[in-house]
Amino acid sequence: RILIVDFGSQVTQLIARRVRESGVYCEIHPFNRVTVESIRAFAPKGVILSGGPASVTEAGSPRAPEGLFSLGLPVLGICYGQQTMCAQLGGTVEPGHDREFGRAVVTQLAPCTLFDGISSDNGALEVWMSHGDRVTALPPGFRVVGASEGAPFAAIADDARHFYGVQFHPEVVHTPRGRELLANFTHRICGCGGDWTMKAFRAHEIERIRAQVGSGRVICGLSGGVDSSVVAALLHEAIGEQLVCVFVDTGLLRAGEADQVVALFRDRFNIKLVHKDASALFLSKLAGETDPEKKRKIIGATFIDVFEAEARAVGGAEFLAQGTLYPDVIESVSFTGGPSVTIKSHHNVGGLPERMNMKLVEPLRELFKDEVRVLGRELGLPDEMVGRHPFPGPGLAIRIPGQELTRERLDILRAADAIYLDEIRKAGLYDVIWQAFCVLLPVRTVGVMGDSRSYDYACALRAVTSTDGMTADFYPFDMAFLGRVANRIINEVKGINRVTYDVTSKPPGTIEWE
Ligand code: XMP
Repeated sequence: RILIVDFGSQVTQLIARRVRESGVYCEIHPFNRVTVESIRAFAPKGVILSGGPASVTEAGSPRAPEGLFSLGLPVLGICYGQQTMCAQLGGTVEPGHDREFGRAVVTQLAPCTLFDGISSDNGALEVWMSHGDRVTALPPGFRVVGASEGAPFAAIADDARHFYGVQFHPEVVHTPRGRELLANFTHRICGCGGDWTMKAFRAHEIERIRAQVGSGRVICGLSGGVDSSVVAALLHEAIGEQLVCVFVDTGLLRAGEADQVVALFRDRFNIKLVHKDASALFLSKLAGETDPEKKRKIIGATFIDVFEAEARAVGGAEFLAQGTLYPDVIESVSFTGGPSVTIKSHHNVGGLPERMNMKLVEPLRELFKDEVRVLGRELGLPDEMVGRHPFPGPGLAIRIPGQELTRERLDILRAADAIYLDEIRKAGLYDVIWQAFCVLLPVRTVGVMGDSRSYDYACALRAVTSTDGMTADFYPFDMAFLGRVANRIINEVKGINRVTYDVTSKPPGTIEWE
C-alpha cells in the first residue's frame, strides 16, 4: 500500500485513482494529520507527496513530517510535494519568474527507474505543468533526470535513498504516460505487487464485515441506486439472513423503478426486503409546497421518519449499512483562513445513525464510484443497475418546478421520462451521458392535435456529460434525435404538447432545474 500526503491540490484524488488502477491500494491523508507514528501505523511501501496551492517560499507553508525522510521509505514528490521535499532536505526553491502552466515537454537527461519504458526515443515526455515556484538548487544526493524549458529540475532523483521528485503532474490525463510513471514508482521503486483487485477487495471486505457484525442484524436502506445496491449485495454475501433491506418508495421515483428493486433483490438475490409504499404520505407532506429547498427538507425528514419506523418494526438491528464512498470521507485540505480540515458528509441521510443509535457498516468507504461499479459487476449485479445514471434523493419532486406536486403531474413526468430514456438507450447514448431526464414545466401552451386545439404542459429535456457532477456540458444530440423524442412524447403522453431542449452548461446552470 501507498500513502498519499495531501497538500491540497485539486487533483490529489487523481493520484489515488491512478495508483489504484495500477493494482496498488492507497489512501489520501491530509498533511496536517500525518505524523511519523501515523505513517508507521499505516505501514506503506512508499509515500507520495501531492501538489498544493501554497508556496514553499512563504513562512508557515505546509511541510511533510520531518521524520518521513528517515524512515527508509521511497518518496515521490509531485509539484508542491517536490518543492517541499527539496526545501526540507537542503535544496533551494524560488518563486518562478514566469508561471508555467499547461502542456510542456520534459527531456530525459539520464536513466531513471521512474522513466523506464515511457520516454520516447529522443527522451521526450509530454507532460502537464502547473506551478509558480521552482526548484533552483538540489539537495545533497540528488541528480537531475529530466528538464523542461521552464523547469530545469523537472524530474530529480536520489537513487540511494529512493527519493524522487517531479515538477509536472503525472496524475492528470494531459500527461499521457503519467500512469506508467506512477506505476514505475509503486511497482519498481516501492516493490508493490499490483495485486489489489476488486476480487481481492471483495473477499477482504466480506471478512471484515463478518468480523464487525458478528451475529448481529444489519438494516440497509435500498434506494435502487448503484451505491446502496452494491452495499446490499455485498452484505448479503457476507451475512445472508442477518441482513434486512428497507426500500422506502417515496412515489417520486421513475417509471418501473420500485418493481425493478423488488424483482432484483427479493426475487433474484433472495434478500429479506421490506417494501414500504409511502407515496401517499410524501405527497400529503409536500402538498402546496413549491420552494425547492423546503421540498428537499420535507422529503429528507419524511424519509427518516418512515425509514426509522420500518427499521424499528424489523427489530433487533444493531447496525445500519450505508453506501458512503471514499470521496465522502476524504478529509479535504482547505486553505481558507489557514490550513484546516473539513469532512464532507452524506447529505440525504445525515443524522440517521446517531438518531437511531445504531453502529454504521460502510463497506464502500474506501472506494471511488467507478470502483463501486466494478465491484457491483463482480457481485453479479446486472449492467443496467451498475451503470445507472445518478438520481437525486428528492427524486422527481425537484423536476416539477414552480407548481404543486400531484400524482397526475408525477405520472405525466414519469411517462415522458421513460420515453426519453428509452430513445437514449436505443440510440446507444446512455453510457456516454452522465444524466438525462425530463422536467415538467409550469406553463401550458397551445397546440393543434388533429382538428382540435390542445392546451397542455410543456416539458424540457435535459442531458449532460460530466465526470463528477461538479461541472457539466449539455449533450449535443442531433436534431433528428430530438425531433423523434419530441414526437413520441407529444403523441404518447397525454398532458404534454410541447418539448424543448435545455442547452445550459454547469456553471452557470446546475444539472437539476431546482
Ligand atoms: P446540481 O443540480 O447541483 O446536481 O448540478 C449535481 C448532482 O447532484 C444531484 N442532486 C442531488 N442529489 N440530493 C441528491 O441526492 C439532492 O438534493 C440533489 N440535488 C441535486 C443531481 O442529480 C446531480 O447528479
